Amino acid sequence: MSNLTSSPAWQALIEHYKEIKPLHMRDLFLNDPHRFEKFSLETGGLFFDYSKNRITEQTMALLFDLARQSGVKERIEKMFSGEKINITENRAVLHTALRNLDHNPIVVDGEDVMPKVNAVKEQIGHFSDKVRSGEWQGYTGKPITDIVNIGIGGSDLGPLMVCQSLKEYGHARLSMHFVSTVDGDQIVSTLKLLNPETTLFIIASKTFTTQETITNARTARAWFVKAAGDEKHIAKHFVAVSTNSKAVAEFGIDTNNMFEFWDWVGGRYSLWSAIGLPIAIYLGKHNYQDLLHGAYTMDQHFRGKPFEQNLPVIMAMLGIWYGNFFGANTHLVSPYNQCMSRFPAYLQQLDMESNGKTVDLDGNQVDYATGPVVWGDAGINGQHAYYQMLHQGTQIVPIDFIATIEHPDIPEPHSTILMANFFAQTEAFMRGKNEAEVRAELEKSGITGQAQDELMPHKIFKGNRPTNTIIMQRLTPRRLGALIALYEHKIFVQGTVWNINSYDQWGVELGKQLAKLIESDLTTPGLTTSHDASTNGLINYFKRNTPR
Ligand code: F6P
Repeated sequence: MSNLTSSPAWQALIEHYKEIKPLHMRDLFLNDPHRFEKFSLETGGLFFDYSKNRITEQTMALLFDLARQSGVKERIEKMFSGEKINITENRAVLHTALRNLDHNPIVVDGEDVMPKVNAVKEQIGHFSDKVRSGEWQGYTGKPITDIVNIGIGGSDLGPLMVCQSLKEYGHARLSMHFVSTVDGDQIVSTLKLLNPETTLFIIASKTFTTQETITNARTARAWFVKAAGDEKHIAKHFVAVSTNSKAVAEFGIDTNNMFEFWDWVGGRYSLWSAIGLPIAIYLGKHNYQDLLHGAYTMDQHFRGKPFEQNLPVIMAMLGIWYGNFFGANTHLVSPYNQCMSRFPAYLQQLDMESNGKTVDLDGNQVDYATGPVVWGDAGINGQHAYYQMLHQGTQIVPIDFIATIEHPDIPEPHSTILMANFFAQTEAFMRGKNEAEVRAELEKSGITGQAQDELMPHKIFKGNRPTNTIIMQRLTPRRLGALIALYEHKIFVQGTVWNINSYDQWGVELGKQLAKLIESDLTTPGLTTSHDASTNGLINYFKRNTPR
């Protein structure tokens, strides 16, 4: 047994689970008129209701004991102060420094990182002002109309999700494009839409070695040089965001047009760094600053509040309650706002790349579940697709419902109908429909006797399915910043309790290494025999059937 699963706090939760399992949330609500007030709070412009969870006050007290026992408080301080908590890469984890609006020094390897952070922020501000105002012009003297971000994973999903979520704040002249995949379809179909004279490419890659990004960037550069007729024009149309200035220069981008960040910013935590350049250009530096401000507000809350009032800690511990004690394997994120439809995809990388680990910080195999499968899409579409399984399937899937109250420029009754569905779903997941209710409903519709008995079991919903609800007035840069930081810190707390390193991602390396080997197999004539039978067979099938 691991230290975690044999610990007193964990053992107490195992015992407590036996008491909670048979309880129905309907009864918990019936027995406590103050349940909503007790289990809800507001911070950073986010109202959070967690009363529709299978918890009592004692559950939360035991979960907070587990957080305390796991040293969450102490580790929060380590992260914020720049200690190298990413032990497998010997790196600090300092995305919070990128939105440290106090500007108090944060020292890594004897150097205060804040002057560098602020200098790049200034550079981003100036550059985005120039592009937005039209002062930055293409090689024929025209203002930029299209921005193409070429990047993948954390160098794509964050800026893409924020630009899409906050598109109502976007600059009217600018169209944003995001190219990540290497199958060629995205870059080729994007280039077809563009005028090289008015297009700015942002090549975003922390390492500047990522195969997909560099391949797409080369295709874009060849397309551009062919149209512009001279490589000297690249300087006005290609900028880079990276930690690797050598590789940027080798690619042919002037390092004066490079926006730097540092190894202590994880790819999936990087939208606050220069990786956010497309956001600053599209939304303007003030809105970008507001996004950082929202995250900063959540940072202060997370660092300062006791666990009982600490939103990221509460969310994290609820996730642990379901994942480790109820055996939930997945977690659904359901935004009821079409602009946020990429938010679940963004969270998927944030959570799954961080906490998808089987080895603890001491190198031991864990004997408990770690990060869940995180998934989702715009909620209202989900209702007509996968919600059936969530209501009546055999698995328990905790859900985060997210909604915004104001939807500017949307005529009624859209908003009312949307919100009616939003509230109806969380109610339905909680209460279900019991035997008496189903019987009464069938009676009313004239179905009686044997027909009624046969239908009964199919129409009963057990309910008692847990949901969190997050509501905000309107989706603003500040609130989105707070929301993203909320999830970042939730993941941190869970990683701390599970005693894993949430900041490395060695698991993605093997595929990258094998892809390099197989790339050469694919271009070498003759039979490939160096892999297992399946992989050889598939490679050879592909080679036989590829038109040359
Ligand atoms: O392969 C996974 C990964 O390393 C992610 O962690 C990262 O966000 C993405 O690839 C892109 O990496 P880079 O920014 O270095 O191109």
